[in-house]
Amino acid sequence: MTRQISASVYSVGALNPNLRVFDIVMRTDYGTSYNAYLIRGEKTALVETCHNSFFEEFLENIRAVCDPGEIDYIILNHTEPDHSGALRRLTECAPQAEIIASRAAAIYLRAITNLPDLRVRAVGDGETLDLGAGKTLRFINAPFLHWPDSMFTWFEAEGVLFSCDFLGSHYCEPRMIDTAITYPNAYQSALKNYFDAIFGPFKPYVLKGLEKIAGLDIAVCANSHGPVLTKGGQLQNALDCYRTWAQPQKNDACTIPIFYCTAYGHTARTAEAIREGILSVKPEAKVELFNIIDEDMADLGARLMGSNAFLVGSPTINKDAVPPVWQLLSHIDAINIQKRPAAVFGSYGWSGEAVPALCTRLAQLKCKVFGEGLKVNFVPSEEELAAAVSFGKEFAESL
Ligand code: FEO
Repeated sequence: MTRQISASVYSVGALNPNLRVFDIVMRTDYGTSYNAYLIRGEKTALVETCHNSFFEEFLENIRAVCDPGEIDYIILNHTEPDHSGALRRLTECAPQAEIIASRAAAIYLRAITNLPDLRVRAVGDGETLDLGAGKTLRFINAPFLHWPDSMFTWFEAEGVLFSCDFLGSHYCEPRMIDTAITYPNAYQSALKNYFDAIFGPFKPYVLKGLEKIAGLDIAVCANSHGPVLTKGGQLQNALDCYRTWAQPQKNDACTIPIFYCTAYGHTARTAEAIREGILSVKPEAKVELFNIIDEDMADLGARLMGSNAFLVGSPTINKDAVPPVWQLLSHIDAINIQKRPAAVFGSYGWSGEAVPALCTRLAQLKCKVFGEGLKVNFVPSEEELAAAVSFGKEFAESL
C-alpha cells in the first residue's frame, strides 16, 4: 500500500491484517500495520522500516515512489524489530543512506543488525535535518514512549508529526487513514488496548510527551501502527484519550485484593482468614477475594496493578505454584509494581514450594514482600487459621 499523505510524504508501510498476537503477549483482534514513510525533498528520507517478514512488500511500496537507492537518510524513531527488522536488508538496497536515530537507538541498532560498522548518526533533542527545498525535520526526544530510545520527528513545513508508536493502534483496514475507518468502535477499542499494553506502564511520560507536542500545529500524525491520524479526523480524539487515560489513578479506599487458586478449598479458607485479619486493622479497606480461575485474567491484572497492596495464594502442586497464579503474575507491569507491598500464602501437602517460589518472583519484580509468606499444612487447623488472621493483621499493620 502506497498513499500520499501530504505534499511530500508517502506512506509505504506494510499491512498485517491477520496478526492476532503481537510480540507473543498482546492480543491484536484487528491485525496491525508497520507504517513507514518517505519524505521527498532535494534529499529523500525514509522514516522507519518494518518487520523483516514484510520486507518484499515494503520494498515494492518504496519502489512505487522512488528507487531505494535514492534514499539518503533512514530515520528510526525507535528500534524494536517491528520498526527496524528490515533495516539490514534495506541497507543493501540503499547503501549510501545514513541512518539517523537517538543516542540510545544508535547503540541498539548495531546489535539488532549485527553490523558493528553500521553508519548511524545519533541526534539529540531539537537537532534538525535539512532535506533541501525548504524541508527541514526536527527531532524531539520522547524517552519511554515507549522505550528509552524513542523519539518523534517533526516536519513543520507540512505539519506532519512522525510519532512512532505514540498515538498508534493495532488496527488494520485496507485504507489506512482515519477518515476512511469503516468500524470506528473497533478502532476505538484497538486504540485503548494498545494504550494499555504499550503506554500503561509509562503514563507520566505520556503526559510529558503530550506537553512536548502541545505547541505543534499538527495536520497529520504519521504514527507507526494503525491508521494515520488527521486534524479533523481522529487526531484530537486520540490526543484527548491519551491525556485522560494517562491521568494518575486515585483510589478512594485502600484496595488490598487477595488473588488465589484453591484445589480443595484450603487455600481459599486461608484467604478468608487473612482477609479477616486485614479488616480488623483496616476496616475501611477494600479487601476483595478473587479465585483466579473464575475471573478474566486481564481484569485481574488491572486490579492487581490498581491496588495499594495485594496478596497471592497458591497450593503447592508438583513442587510449584499452580499455572493460573503464574499467569496472573505475568500480567504484572514490572515498572510500576516496584515497592508495592505484597504477601504470599498457600496450603500444601508435603513440601510447600509454592509460597517461597512466589515470594522469590515478587521480590525479583521489586515488590515489598512481607516476610516469608504463610504456609498451612493440608486442611488449615484452628491454630493455622488463627495464624492466618494474625498474618493478615501484621501485613495490614506493615502498610
Ligand atoms: Fe512498534 Fe515498540 O514497537
